[in-house]
Amino acid sequence: MKDEYVATNLLTKLSSAFIRKEPFGLVLIIAPWNYPVNLTLMPLVGALAAGNCVVLKPSEMSKCTEKVLCELLPQYLDQVGWLCPSPPPGEGSPRVGRIVMAAAAKHLTPITLELGGKNPCYVDDDCDPQTVANRVAWFRYFNSGQTCVAPDYVLCSPETRERLLPALQSAITRFYGDDPKSSPNLGRIINQKHFLRLQGLLRCGRVAIGGQSDESDRYIAPTVLVDVQDTEPVMQEEIFGPILPLVTVRSLDEAIDFINQREKPLALYAFSNSSQVVNEVMERTSSGSFGGNEGFIYLTLPSLPLGGVGNSGMGRYHGKFSFDTFSHQRACLLRNPGLEKVNDIRYPPYSPWNQQLITWALGSQSCTLL
Ligand SMILES: *[C@@H]1O[C@H](CO)[C@@H](O)[C@H](O)[C@H]1NC(C)=O
Ligand SMILES: *[C@@H]1O[C@H](CO)[C@@H](O)[C@H](O)[C@H]1NC(C)=O
Repeated sequence: MKDEYVATNLLTKLSSAFIRKEPFGLVLIIAPWNYPVNLTLMPLVGALAAGNCVVLKPSEMSKCTEKVLCELLPQYLDQVGWLCPSPPPGEGSPRVGRIVMAAAAKHLTPITLELGGKNPCYVDDDCDPQTVANRVAWFRYFNSGQTCVAPDYVLCSPETRERLLPALQSAITRFYGDDPKSSPNLGRIINQKHFLRLQGLLRCGRVAIGGQSDESDRYIAPTVLVDVQDTEPVMQEEIFGPILPLVTVRSLDEAIDFINQREKPLALYAFSNSSQVVNEVMERTSSGSFGGNEGFIYLTLPSLPLGGVGNSGMGRYHGKFSFDTFSHQRACLLRNPGLEKVNDIRYPPYSPWNQQLITWALGSQSCTLL
């Protein structure tokens, strides 16, 4: 938060130059429902730390958390007012991002958008299927798949697909038992609308694992799909549920082409015992974040920013990045009020002599106006 002093050149030697972090003033936070406590409070902490006043809109879809936040926040924060639930835009999708951005454009308000997208997960032939299955399954089925950075679909060769299937089955049984529905470790789908959407996705391709659902409980079994077509909804929209399609490709190049033909995702994963393969996926693609042989555990590091790129959003937050996101970096220079004599060289009339002197005084690290 402190002023950050920066380098000066000869022309500004008698001045101090620094960046001051100032609050923007008023910040609106629109939080999604899938991690309703953290995704509301984490940006709130950054915005308040940066000195802003905040209008907070918890998601109306996670009703219980909304109620608790409305009861608790006034006990800990000053001057809490109410933002009446205006027409909820829904959250987290690029479609909604465009609505928010258009509304902000009217006032030239800067925005940070963390959107979703379909996060590819490349699995190389050179891997231990059980290790990969454990890691992918945990991150896919965590919170019943309702995670914006979850691996959305797997890209692998037909051979690796056959090795992965029994390993995924074994990971699912190990995590959630023979009857995942009775597991205390598996969540439910947020509401009926999303349940019905996911139930529809179960009809894409062929169910290889799971596939059961129960509307009365909004339960969707941890599911693996194979033989899905590109044109089917499960490959067209972000899944945001406990469903994992395995898409086959013939080579690493084909997998990278597949990824690059689509919008830039919020997250991208690559699993291989060859660091060269992992590096290649990282270097030849773009995404908000990247996990090599790992899922979204990077979220636990406040030292890493979280944010999208292209269709998956803009801006970043988490840890210090939240503070920076909600701060204006003001360029400041304070000059000694006296010593006017040394300024003579910069005023007209110009001569070859003073021009040369100024160029020299500006030094190499200057943005020169001359
Ligand atoms: C939510 O925030 C709390 C407090 O910072 C942290 O302990 C917890 O790990 C976070 N949970 C997730 C899922 O990010
Ligand atoms: C890499 O290979 C080792 C040795 O076979 C194995 O123990 C490990 O699980 C593999 N890792 C991955 C990500 O496949």
